[in-house]
Amino acid sequence: MMDTITQLAARLNAATRITVVTGAGVSAASGVPTFRGPGGLWKNMRAETLASADGFAADPSLVWEWYDWRRQLIREAQPNAAHRVLADWTQTRPGTTLVTQNVDGLHERAGSTNVLRLHGSIWQLRCWAECNASGHGWLDERVPISPLPPRCPHCDALARPGVVWFGESLDAAVLDAAVAACNCDVFLSVGTSAVVYPAAGLLHHAQRHGAFTVEINPDATDASGVVDLVIKGKAEEVLKDVDETLTRF
Ligand code: OAD
Repeated sequence: MMDTITQLAARLNAATRITVVTGAGVSAASGVPTFRGPGGLWKNMRAETLASADGFAADPSLVWEWYDWRRQLIREAQPNAAHRVLADWTQTRPGTTLVTQNVDGLHERAGSTNVLRLHGSIWQLRCWAECNASGHGWLDERVPISPLPPRCPHCDALARPGVVWFGESLDAAVLDAAVAACNCDVFLSVGTSAVVYPAAGLLHHAQRHGAFTVEINPDATDASGVVDLVIKGKAEEVLKDVDETLTRF
């Protein structure tokens, strides 16, 4: 009986198309707290409350304080082994697609190419009033952000984080590309609780295409009972082990 690391390495070696969907767990080792794990609850508030238009309308300063805190942690963070291994695969294995729910940009900083960012970027801002002049928004990488809450440079309305909030639609082109990437040989779900749709639904698309599906996570999730192979462990350790095993094939 092959161990799970060797099983995955063998599958990857034989695969032409590999799709990886990541969540907050891949950035945990970089010091960015997950949303639902320990340290993720900020002031005891749920992510669903803070990351929503209703939450923002109720208290923009509170929501911006949360984002400002996360932006600071992300600014100080460095990509970890999980980001580095995935970056290497996107560069050296054509047919690898990386889809992320993370807004921290650590995959890109590790050198990943063509990342499909389902939930946008924490460094992007948009006008809350959606004024014409502001278009799709602007980049603001200041930490701490000032003033708090920040304002639209075009119309002086409130500015909001340019991320996708609960109840909002994902960018259609990005989602279409992610769904298309589910037509693959091996599908990996890494470091995500797999509860937020439509990202969590990508696994089911991959299964319909007959992909070999794998979860890498130290804890059980909604996906655990559904995938072909569960590798219980931390992304930064498991992916490194898989990568080292791959090179021996
Ligand atoms: P969650 O916080 O829901 O889940 C993080 C997952 O990472 C959990 O299943 C943990 O067990 C796992 N985990 C923790 N440390 C890990 C490690 N070292 N290696 C691997 N896995 C580890 O985060 P997401 O699933 O990303 O959306 O959450 C999905 C979306 O909900 C986010 O994109 C965000 C959030 O609210 C929006 O803001 C719209």
